Order: sequence, then C-alpha cells, then structure tokens
Amino acid sequence: MRLVSLEVADWRNVASAQLDTNARFVVLHGDNAQGKTNLLEAVWTLSNLRSFRESRYQRLIRHECDSVQIDGMVVGESGRRRLRWARSAASRTMQIDGQNVRQLRDWFAVLRAVLFCPEHGAIIRGGPVERRSFVDRAAFTTRPAHLDVVRQYARVLRHKAALLRSRKGGRVQVESWNSQLALLGGQLAARRAAALCDLSEPFVEAHRAIAGPRSGVATLRMRGLGRAAPGERLDPAVVTAQFIEKLSTGLDDEIRQARCLVGPHRDDLVVDLDGHPARNFASQGQARSLVLALKLAELEAARRQGLAPLFLLDDLTSELDRSRMVRLMEVLADLKNQVWLTTTDPRWLGPLPGGDVVSYKVAAGRVEPLSEPPE
Ligand SMILES: Nc1ncnc2c1ncn2[C@@H]1O[C@H](COP(=O)(O)OP(=O)(O)OP(=O)(O)O)[C@@H](O)[C@H]1O
Ligand SMILES: [Mg+2]
Repeated sequence: MRLVSLEVADWRNVASAQLDTNARFVVLHGDNAQGKTNLLEAVWTLSNLRSFRESRYQRLIRHECDSVQIDGMVVGESGRRRLRWARSAASRTMQIDGQNVRQLRDWFAVLRAVLFCPEHGAIIRGGPVERRSFVDRAAFTTRPAHLDVVRQYARVLRHKAALLRSRKGGRVQVESWNSQLALLGGQLAARRAAALCDLSEPFVEAHRAIAGPRSGVATLRMRGLGRAAPGERLDPAVVTAQFIEKLSTGLDDEIRQARCLVGPHRDDLVVDLDGHPARNFASQGQARSLVLALKLAELEAARRQGLAPLFLLDDLTSELDRSRMVRLMEVLADLKNQVWLTTTDPRWLGPLPGGDVVSYKVAAGRVEPLSEPPE
C-alpha cells in the first residue's frame, strides 16, 4: 500500500499542508522543532487512529484552534481509498470514501504502518512492558484480531487486580476471574509465540544486514508463561492448562500480596546478542540496530501474509555509524514498502533510489516540495 497524498489542517504546528507523496521514499527534512515528526505523527495517526506520543487529542490540535483534520489517499490491496480522520471537542470523524467507519478492521485493512522512532530504544534497554507491546503490535500488524485478545485479557486482569486490591474478594471470586483469565491468557501466549515464530528468522537476517556479518548474532526468545522453543508454536489449550495450575498454586500468594503474580502480562521478550541479553550489554548504536531489525522483521512477517504496511522512520540521523547507515539504506532500497523518513540532514541518508523519491522541506510548520532530492 502507498499513501499517495496527505493533507493536514491545524495539526500540531502545521496550519495547513498538502503533500503529494506518490513515491516509494518520502523524505521530510528540516531543522529541529520545525514539524517533521509532527507530519510523521499525522501519518501514524491516520494509520493507527492514535498518536505514538500523545494520548490527549487536544494537544494534537494546533494552538488556538478548535479542530484538527487529516486526509489521506491510499492506493493498496483494497484499491484506491480516501481516509478522513478528524477530531474536535464535539465530534470524532473516521471516514473511508466519505462513509463513516463502523468496524475498525475495515480501516486497518486500508492503511497500516510500522513505526521506528528514537524512543523505541526502550524496546531493547527499557523494561518488559515495551518489549511486550512490541510483540503485541507486531502480532497485530499481521493479524489485527490480536488486539481484541490483548484488550480482553487486560480487562479481565484489571477486574481481578481490583478485586485483589480491595482485599474483599474470597477465593471463590478470585477463582472465577482466574478461569476467564486462563482461557484468554492461553490464547494471548499462543498468539505471541506465533508472532515470535514469524519474527525470529527475519530478525536474525535483518540484524545481520544492518550491523554487518562480523557484528554478532542477534536472537529472540520469550521468557515466562508463553516461552517456547525457537520456532515452536504453542497450543492455547496447553498454555491454559499450565496457567490454571500456576494460578491455583499461586492463589494464596496473590491474595496475600493483593497483586496478580502469574500470567502472560509478566512475560518478557529477550533479545540476545551472541547469547547475552542485549538489555544489559548493547551499546547505543547496537540497541538502535536491534530495534531497526525488529521493525524490519515486523515488515517481513507482514509481507509473508501478503501485507505491505508503510514504514515510518523518525530521526534517523543520530547514533548509527556510517557503515550501518549505508547498509540500512540498502535494506530500505530493497523493500517494496513505502518508506517515510524524517531527518535534519539528508546527506546522512546517502543516495536513495533515484526517481522514486519525493522530498519536502519543513520549516516552521510549512511544507515545501523540493524538486531535486537534497544533496
Ligand atoms: N498543538 C500544537 N500547536 C502548535 N504547535 C505545536 C503543537 N504541538 C507541538 N507543537 C510544536 O511543533 C514544533 C515542531 O515539533 P516536531 O516534534 O515536529 O519537531 P521536529 O521538526 O521533528 O524537530 P526535531 O528535529 O527536534 O525532532 C515544536 O516546536 C512544538 O512546540
Ligand atoms: Mg523530530
């Protein structure tokens, strides 16, 4: 799929912009604080129906304005479709070809994206929450129904946690939540294991491609209830049975500590570099390369399902050394996906495949096309 045009109104610091983006590479460049990430955020919001850095929509609306609107034309698997997303205090609009959207899956069938931004370094160096959400997002990218399971599990977990915290629930009440939790947890863990199967081999390859053949071997594994041998898929019924057993052994502890102690909400994705957890040992540049490899693996897993999400990369200028940057650009050149890049210095990107690039200069929220790709 390709986003062939983008129009935003009163989005962040952009009063109005119209971009013709029918190219494989869309490059947004400009100095700091000009609106590059804001534009990428608009594309992400259009594809994902929420921002990656702001949960309150009011902050997305340009200061002193009342509403915000993003329009996009997508050419892809489902033909040529016009998307409109708009928000104001009074209304919330999501339209495909002028019709209100009833099912979110219809929207996601039109436009999907994979995002890389500097904050994603936390996937490697941060806590398990970031890594679990990466796995959940990657699973969602290939199989959107995953989101429903994540939400249902989280809802039951919240109820159970509230009950434990209140210290008013007896064993029977906790056990009744546990039986629901075990069923959903089994599905969640099995789906994550399937996602990991899809990601593992493309991840190893993408990492080798970016970091170079002498940089060590990077591998993925899951720790916790949903752990599986490399390449192994899990049977949800089997995980549910294990989960039920753990829940029953841990019941007294959970009641005593008033917390949910077991379940896939405690699982972790371990990224190893030459057998050592990257979380503890990876350098800044290594961490970035690993995150990029995870994102490329997510794209490859989607490709194997016949999907071609957009690849959005924010602020590629820092932290990768010259040779890693050159190799990354070669990898991007070989993809079929539309790639959006923001950078303060386009020279860092090196040569992009000629003819299939559009470049925009972003300055103080204004967006100007550049006829020549920047040197
Ligand atoms: N709702 C808003 N209304 C007006 N301006 C906003 C709003 N939200 C953010 N901004 C401004 O948008 C500007 C540009 O932000 P953005 O994150 O896009 O910069 P950038 O070009 O990516 O810069 P950098 O290279 O530093 O990452 C910031 O100065 C910010 O204050
Ligand atoms: Mg930025």
